[in-house]
Parts: sequence; C-alpha cells; structure tokens
Amino acid sequence: MARLIGGVGSSHVPAIGNALEQGLQTDPYWKPFFDGYKPVWNWMEDKKPDVAILVYNDHGLNFFLDTMPTFAIGAAAEYQNADEGWGLKPLDPFQGDPEFSWHLIDSLVHDEFDITMCQEMLVDHGFTVPMSLMWPNQDTRDQVKVIPLCVNVVQYPFPTAQRCLKLGEAIGKAVASFDKDLDVVILGTGGLSHQLDGERAGHTNREFDTEFLEKLKDEPEWLLKYSNYELAKIVGPQGVEMIMWLIMRGALGGNIRELSRNYHIPISNTAAGVILFENDAV
Ligand code: DHB
Ligand code: FE
Repeated sequence: MARLIGGVGSSHVPAIGNALEQGLQTDPYWKPFFDGYKPVWNWMEDKKPDVAILVYNDHGLNFFLDTMPTFAIGAAAEYQNADEGWGLKPLDPFQGDPEFSWHLIDSLVHDEFDITMCQEMLVDHGFTVPMSLMWPNQDTRDQVKVIPLCVNVVQYPFPTAQRCLKLGEAIGKAVASFDKDLDVVILGTGGLSHQLDGERAGHTNREFDTEFLEKLKDEPEWLLKYSNYELAKIVGPQGVEMIMWLIMRGALGGNIRELSRNYHIPISNTAAGVILFENDAV
C-alpha cells in the first residue's frame, strides 16, 4: 500500500526560482529564508519519497479566468513548464504517475469531490518553485514523480477552507488505498500573507501568519472561522493561497509530528513560511 510519509507547507514566490538559479542561498537577503529549508532538504534526502502530490494554484498559465476549475488534478505522464514572463529558465519536464493520478481522481470523485481531470497540463511557478525548493539538485528532483493538484484561489468564488481540509482528508484516504508500495509526500504551497497589487500592495500580517503556523498541527480548523473574503482583508487577496496548506494538513490525519518551521518577511513582497510534518501513523 502507498504511505503518506509527510507533508510540507511552503511559499512559492517566483523570485525564489531566480535565486536558486543564481545560487544566492547564502546571500544576506536570501540566507534567512533558505536556511529554513535545510531540515526539509535533510528529510527528503533521508526519506527519498517516490511521489509528491503538489497542491498549488495556476496563476494564468494553464487556466485563465474564462475557464477556472475549482480542483484540477494532472493525469499526464509528464508535465512541462513554460515562460510566464518571470525570466525563469524552462526546467526539464517533471515525470508524472498516471496510474496513481487516476486512482486519486477515481477515489476523490467517489468521495463526491468533482475533480477536473487533466491529461495535459502546463505547470507554472506555483508548481516549479516548490519542486526546485524541495529538491534543489536536479538528479534527486528527477527521481520524484509528481501529481499536480491545482486549486482555484484566483477567480472568486474560491473553495472554502473547510472544503480544502476535507479534500485533504479524502486524499489521505485515497493514498492509503493505492495498492502499490510507494512513499508519498504532500506539499501545500502558496502564501503566506501577501498582496501583490492595489493601494495596499506589499501588505503582510506577521501576527496572523504566526498563529496560522502555530495552529496548523493540532487545530487546523482555526482557519475555518474566516471566510475567504475576510481572509483577503487579513492576509491580502493573494495570501488566501494559504488555504491550500489545509489540503496538505487534512491529508496527514491526526498522528503527525512537526519537525521544523521557518517564517521570514519579506521575500519579494511576500511573507514566506515553511513547515515540515512527519506522519507517525505510517
Ligand atoms: C508572487 C507571486 C506569487 O504567486 C506568490 O504566491 C507570491 C509572490 C510575486 O509575484 O512576487
Ligand atoms: Fe502564488
């Protein structure tokens, strides 16, 4: 059976991709951010997961405002990125696992989640930056198969935080019922607080982010008391991406350990967070 061995919450700011490409990990601006990933790098090196389910939002590369699925899962043999105008070098294609994708889709649809299934899917910085962050070394990155899970946090109405938490729980169940000996990690990406445009561009909220990180392990329901409209005011319209971390958290179930956490402002205009959970239940 497949085992969900752990989960990571991480920001996906495009500038991180540029910093990695230019080897700026020890540059004074970047060091406090990248140092927070050392425990994640060590953990990945030690655990060597076979598959990563990567929860992110497409920012207009594969889906645009005219057609916006709430939840979309890739079922392709490989995924390519493409230029979004950030100047990020195109990366080698990421290897998919269509059989596992179809199992997840089948299980989730039978659990009453209406999933958009994508046999072709371009992946943007929301996907590629976390991949480069988790596995900065191309050789190790190439050994991890990927399942992209795309969430609409771009065009209102977004799914509720509660729906995200429940989707995570259903993913946990779906992984556990896949009859293959695979170690799986789930990555919830986006956030933390940030606002990219408008009069309040650059808005962050350290106090709220800190409480979110503090509650994520034992009380993820804490976030559910805020609607997405309220969250947009509190953490910025793009900061609402943090609801995708609840999908990661929901998938892991009740028996987890927090192994590391880091929080740093600013990266670009964004409050950047990372948290690593290990699943004790497997
Ligand atoms: C930026 C873009 C993102 O998608 C994000 O989550 C944070 C920051 C940016 O353009 O800087
Ligand atoms: Fe984003």
